[in-house]
Amino acid sequence: MAFFHSKLRSATASSAPCLLRGFSTSKIVSKSVIVTGAGQGIGKAIALRLARDGFDICVNDLEANSTRANSVVEEIQSLGRKAILAYADVSKLPQVEAMVKASVDRLGPLDVIVANAGISKAHLGIDVQTSDLQRLFEVNFYGVLYSDQVAARQFIKQGSGGKIINAASVVGFRPFPMLPIYGATKAAVRSLTQSLAMELAKDKVTVNAYAPGAIDTPIWDKGDEEMRAINGLPKGQNFKDTVNAIALGRIGVPEDVAKLVSFLASADSDYVTGQTMLVDGGMAFS
Ligand SMILES: NC(=O)c1ccc[n+]([C@@H]2O[C@H](COP(=O)([O-])OP(=O)(O)OC[C@H]3O[C@@H](n4cnc5c(N)ncnc54)[C@H](O)[C@@H]3O)[C@@H](O)[C@H]2O)c1
Repeated sequence: MAFFHSKLRSATASSAPCLLRGFSTSKIVSKSVIVTGAGQGIGKAIALRLARDGFDICVNDLEANSTRANSVVEEIQSLGRKAILAYADVSKLPQVEAMVKASVDRLGPLDVIVANAGISKAHLGIDVQTSDLQRLFEVNFYGVLYSDQVAARQFIKQGSGGKIINAASVVGFRPFPMLPIYGATKAAVRSLTQSLAMELAKDKVTVNAYAPGAIDTPIWDKGDEEMRAINGLPKGQNFKDTVNAIALGRIGVPEDVAKLVSFLASADSDYVTGQTMLVDGGMAFS
């Protein structure tokens, strides 16, 4: 033990620069982040939280959600941060490339990307239609991959590292009835996050993911409706049953997720990579 302590002391004194070992005084200093699917729900809460943390924000969403996305941009600007809007369907690589270029041209070097955009669909595995299978993977997996790829190339070009943060789900940790393909896309994101973390570590790029449980956003209006069409439960009952499975006894709010993403986007997470972190009120293991 004494040997260990003296080794540690000498390593501290001689080789480890204080900056790497200490705590930064503030979370960040004027950096930029792209948040995909930031017009509403979890993406909006992340964009607003990161703006409060001091980031300038590139708000991405589909043009079809322009009213909401524009109001997020205005809210960020009212907080005194820069914000731009970049419409892109994240399932289309050229649109993702244009989004990253717009962010860099207008906000400067990119520091973080939050690949948040996603869609859900409830169905039984035996009834899955090819069109649903395709669209779920296109948005939830290809969309995350394209966002990560294009941001990573930009980070490597800039030469000073970066942070990639992906949207996974509790469904990628444990199965939920009626979400077989959605769950598969999120398990795929978890795997991709681990692989990219290994691949990009040499470039000082960390890759992590957040895995929300049941969070109160518009995604649930459609989800409850689709589940009801399958099992015939009254409107809102599937949602209530899901909430009843949460150990902490309440539905999550988007800000619960944004707090975790704030950590993952900050220097406080510099030694964390390849992780998919649950933010689910204890749902995965209840
Ligand atoms: N709400 C939950 O309970 C929950 C749980 C686990 C994981 N998630 C994940 O968190 C993320 C955000 O979910 P949410 O609940 O805020 O959903 P939401 O439906 O409220 O918001 C999703 C946003 O993404 C945008 N979007 C959809 N397809 C897009 C595309 N192709 N390109 C760009 N933008 C697109 C939508 O327009 C919308 O603004 C998703 O990846 C979702 O799978 C949500």
